[in-house]
Amino acid sequence: MFAKKTIRDYDFHGKRALVRVDFNVPLANGQVADDTRIRAALPTLRYLLDHGAALILCSHLGRPKGQPRPDLSLRPVASALEALIEVPVAFVGDCVGPEVEAAAQTLKPGEILLLENTRFHPEEKKNAPDFARQLASLADVFVNDAFGTAHRAHASNVGVAQYLPALAGLLMEKEIRYLGQVLADPQRPFIAILGGAKISDKIGVIRNLLTRADQILIGGGMANTFFLAEGYPVGESLVEPDALETARSLVEEAGPRLRLPVDVVIADDFSADAQRKVMGMGPIPAGWRIMDIGPETAARYGRVIARAGTVVWNGPMGVFEFPPFAEGTFALAKTIAQSEAQSIVGGGDSAAALQLSGLAERVTHISTGGGASLKMLEGAELPGLTALADAK
Ligand code: 3PG
Repeated sequence: MFAKKTIRDYDFHGKRALVRVDFNVPLANGQVADDTRIRAALPTLRYLLDHGAALILCSHLGRPKGQPRPDLSLRPVASALEALIEVPVAFVGDCVGPEVEAAAQTLKPGEILLLENTRFHPEEKKNAPDFARQLASLADVFVNDAFGTAHRAHASNVGVAQYLPALAGLLMEKEIRYLGQVLADPQRPFIAILGGAKISDKIGVIRNLLTRADQILIGGGMANTFFLAEGYPVGESLVEPDALETARSLVEEAGPRLRLPVDVVIADDFSADAQRKVMGMGPIPAGWRIMDIGPETAARYGRVIARAGTVVWNGPMGVFEFPPFAEGTFALAKTIAQSEAQSIVGGGDSAAALQLSGLAERVTHISTGGGASLKMLEGAELPGLTALADAK
C-alpha cells in the first residue's frame, strides 16, 4: 500500500543525506517544551547513522515570514536532539551559503549537522528552484521524514526532490500507512470524532468522511455553527457566520450519520473561573457561551465509541485548557483509549489531551501531523509525499 521508495531501498554507506524533519516544536524560555516530534524522527535518524550516512538535517520552525528571527532559531532543538540520540549534533546558523557548504563537506559518516530554520529565507515557501538546488547540493540523497509538513509544497520538502534521489523516512511511511489503511479499509463501524474551533477547517474532512465513516460525532467550537444553522440562538459562543450555509447543507446531506451534542456546558465568560452550568441543548441564554460538550453527550458518544471497529479523532470537544471545561475532551480520550477499536488521533490538541490524561500509549497511532493528517482525511494529495520516488 505504501507506494514510495523508502530509506530501506538505498545504500547509505559513505553518503551525505539531507533529511527533512518536522522539528516545528513548541519552545518556552529558549528550550524545547514538547519533544514529541523530535522523538518521532529518531528511528529514521538511527537507521541512517547505523547504515553509514552523514546526516544534514533541515526543518522549519514557526512562521518567521522569510526573515531571520532569533526566537524561532532551531539552535535549542540541536541540544534537545543531542540528549535524545546521544550523538553530538553540530549546528550552523543558516541553511544555505558558504559556511553551510563548508560544514556539510567536512561531515563524516555517523555525524549530524542541523541547519538553521529554512523559513528564514522567503524562497523556502515559494519553493524557489535556486534555493532548493542549493539545499540539495549539500548532499548525495534526500530523505523526507517530515510528515507534519507533507501538505506544504516548499523548497525543503518538495523542491529538493527534483535534484536528488528522494526517499521516504520511517515516520513518513508509518503515518501514511496508518491513515491510508483507515481510509481505504477501516474495520467497521468506523467512527470519526471531530472537534476544535472551526468548521471551515474541516468541511473537506466531513465531506470525505461522509462517504467512508459510519458516524461522525461533532463537538468543540465547530458544533456552535451547526446549532446556529439549526436555528438555536448560541449567546456569546464562537461561531462562523460565513459557514452557516455549508453547515446547513452538511446536516441535510449527512442525515443521522452526523451527530451533534444533546447537552452542553456553558459559561458566563471565556475564562477558567467563569460561572459554569450544564444545560440540555436549546437556546443559549444571552451573555453565556458554549465551552464543552455535556455529560449526556459524552456518555452517548462513549457508547458509540465502545462499539467501534475504527475511531479517528481530531480536535478537542471543548476549551480543555481550562480544567472546568475539559471534562468532555478527557471523557472521550478515556473511552477511546479503553476501546478495542483501532484508534488514530491527529492534531496537536487532541494528542496533548491524550498525553495529559496519561492514556496516550493505549491508542493505536497518534499522528505527528495536524494539518497534514486533516488533508489526508480530506482525501487530498500530499505534495511532500508525491514528490518522492515511486516504489516501482
Ligand atoms: C505543523 O505544525 O502543522 C507543520 O509543522 C506545518 O506548519 P505550518 O502550518 O506553519 O506550515
